[in-house]
Amino acid sequence: MAGGRIVVVGGGQAGFQACSSLRDNGFDGDLSLVCEERTLPYERPPLSKDYLRGDIDLALRPESFYDGKGIDLIAGRVAGIDPRARTATLDSGRSLPYDRLILATGARARTLPVPGARLSNVFTLRTVGDAESLRKRLEAGTRVVVVGGGFIGLEVASLAQELGCDTTVVEVLPHAMARVVTPQTSDTLVEVHRSRGTRVLLGRRVAAFDGDHAGRVRQVALDNGTRLEADVVVLGVGVVPNVELAYKANLPTSDGFLVDQTLRTSDPAIYAIGDCARFPSRHASSLIRLESVQNAVDQAHHVARCITGQPEPYTAVPWFWSDQCGLKLQISGISLGHDQTVLKGDPAEGRFSVFCFRSGELVAVESVNRPADHIISRRLLAGTTELTPDDVAHPDFDLKKAPR
Ligand code: NAI
Repeated sequence: MAGGRIVVVGGGQAGFQACSSLRDNGFDGDLSLVCEERTLPYERPPLSKDYLRGDIDLALRPESFYDGKGIDLIAGRVAGIDPRARTATLDSGRSLPYDRLILATGARARTLPVPGARLSNVFTLRTVGDAESLRKRLEAGTRVVVVGGGFIGLEVASLAQELGCDTTVVEVLPHAMARVVTPQTSDTLVEVHRSRGTRVLLGRRVAAFDGDHAGRVRQVALDNGTRLEADVVVLGVGVVPNVELAYKANLPTSDGFLVDQTLRTSDPAIYAIGDCARFPSRHASSLIRLESVQNAVDQAHHVARCITGQPEPYTAVPWFWSDQCGLKLQISGISLGHDQTVLKGDPAEGRFSVFCFRSGELVAVESVNRPADHIISRRLLAGTTELTPDDVAHPDFDLKKAPR
């Protein structure tokens, strides 16, 4: 498909990259990018990291880029789609006809269904607006309670502690970051946070937030009766994919728009990519939905190639990273369902990798301050590696010489 009309819904990383890549792959028809946030598409990863220290330019490209590429940036929200008429309707009432529609609607921060969750100074962190509001409150001495020990929770806790805040993390599960890392890596990260003075409470649930007469949060009540003093609360308790457009359009969903290996929904004219899409992956034992920049970017390029050329299965190796307390955590592959791990390096020295196997097959590698392991393992996971747990466990094991 070289011409026609393509509408991309969602001005995040996935939507931006899809537009850019469509042009790079020779699509010369009409191309619209609908941006609900009414800003130029921007980078999200710094929001829970450097952006909390000070202002940095987050825009992925200046406005002139979109003019130059013939991408029509439309500020607004798509309120509905009509697959029969092939139109997307904005909340302003404007109707956008399409030949292909790409849903890159992302996800929104989850809140907690407990009393007081709407008090002021209780923040979620997803948009640049959220990060700006939070940044203003993070000063030396501020008592910060972070709910959720996942990516957002631990990255924000790391920054808040560095800025001199009195910081506590409350995580409901027995391990932090349990969704994405092994207990070994989780325990090491938590130890480093604690050694810097952050309290990390595991296996604890928030019962309520209590406020003062001005409606500001003052205390966090936990399920065991503990009360934590708080000037600021940050909720990092996961996200909900934005799939509401599917309902009237009769597109199947299951915690994400369901797509096939070519990222197409049940409607051949409609694709879904990034945080909002659940897809079959050869790197997982079941359908997965990935929340990562890598996935957003790679799926965007893939969908552009599928639309402008030959549809092919999406097979990119998933990878993730996180910066916390001066440590660089990098994850390649999907460890979900692993049944064996092999540790290389020394967690006490802050440099190690955990190799995760499922039924004897290498499925993921978590590395802390071992960037070479991360890069090599991504290459290994992209092919079919014969590496066994015994190979990795051997004292003379050298990943650089691993069979591919
Ligand atoms: P997350 O899924 O990484 O972590 C949520 C954490 O909250 C989990 O540990 C979970 O057990 C915990 N939790 C859930 N309910 C709770 C409760 N009631 N009380 C206490 N803990 C509770 O999601 P997170 O951290 O909110 O991040 C949101 C999104 O942003 C994710 O998509 C994440 O991948 C992305 N992100 C990625 C980063 C990276 O790749 N470095 C950095 C920041 C965000």
